[in-house]
Amino acid sequence: RFAYVNGRFVRHGQAAVHIEDRGYQLADGVYEVWAVFDGKLADAQGHFARLWRSLDELRIAHPMSEAALTVVLREAIRRNHVREGLVYLQVSRGVAKRDHAFPNPAVPPAVVITARSVDRAAIEAKAAKGSAVITVPENRWGRCDIKTIGLLPNALAKQAARERGAIEAWFVDDLGLVTEGASSNAWIVDAEGRLRTRDTQANILRGVTRLTLLDVIAEAGLPVAEQPFTVEEAKSAKEAFITGAGSLVTPITSIDGVKIGDGVVGPVASRLRALYIERAR
Ligand code: PDD
Repeated sequence: RFAYVNGRFVRHGQAAVHIEDRGYQLADGVYEVWAVFDGKLADAQGHFARLWRSLDELRIAHPMSEAALTVVLREAIRRNHVREGLVYLQVSRGVAKRDHAFPNPAVPPAVVITARSVDRAAIEAKAAKGSAVITVPENRWGRCDIKTIGLLPNALAKQAARERGAIEAWFVDDLGLVTEGASSNAWIVDAEGRLRTRDTQANILRGVTRLTLLDVIAEAGLPVAEQPFTVEEAKSAKEAFITGAGSLVTPITSIDGVKIGDGVVGPVASRLRALYIERAR
């Protein structure tokens, strides 16, 4: 395997960043994850647009142009022989003597890219059986719209989920409304049969998969509302699912141990999963 580190491809096992990288010391960086279908990046433009926005919000320089980055991402896919998989990109503010404030003068941002294969058939078989989520109190900062590498609350929430046999943790705000998952957006098919996912005015990541799926839903002519829902609404929903570059569209059949619907994968979620994958290919 090969990884891209600051301008060159190196063996994955030897790939390393400096101990004074601000990403390492301060989580001062951003990232993106693309799904790869048939060797190609899914939703490439949406992820690029969000990457530039995340960098701009944090005043980190763009390390390269979109055209140059596209070439490097494709090369990462090629060198790792990925047909079905994931590409990870991380950009930190760079390497400088430890100081909370930005380095002055600025240093070049540090770029790392990895690509790996996933077994989509196995994932598909698992998704078809339905998956569980748990809920945890929202405890993240107020800028979840920026895709930063500061993921400790997400990591702890995901670990809590894993320890309870769940694939995802949904954060719940002070009003009892679900914000999003630790690494995915949250959806339900509500009691009236409407698709519901939280609006992006809220403190959540503007999921690229979420946005593409809204398109897919509009094309399919299904009723949808970008409106928050409570945990109680979710537990009494007809269906639930999550979206993200890693999970694509993954049906959820229980929340905090409570069965959703009859506890089996619902028709809407499985149809949307198929439609999303068809569109991404
Ligand atoms: N996570 N919400 C959060 C907190 C996320 O971390 C992600 C993605 C999403 C879904 O966004 P998108 O559809 O653009 O992937 C929502 C990536 C996959 C990760 O951390 O691995």
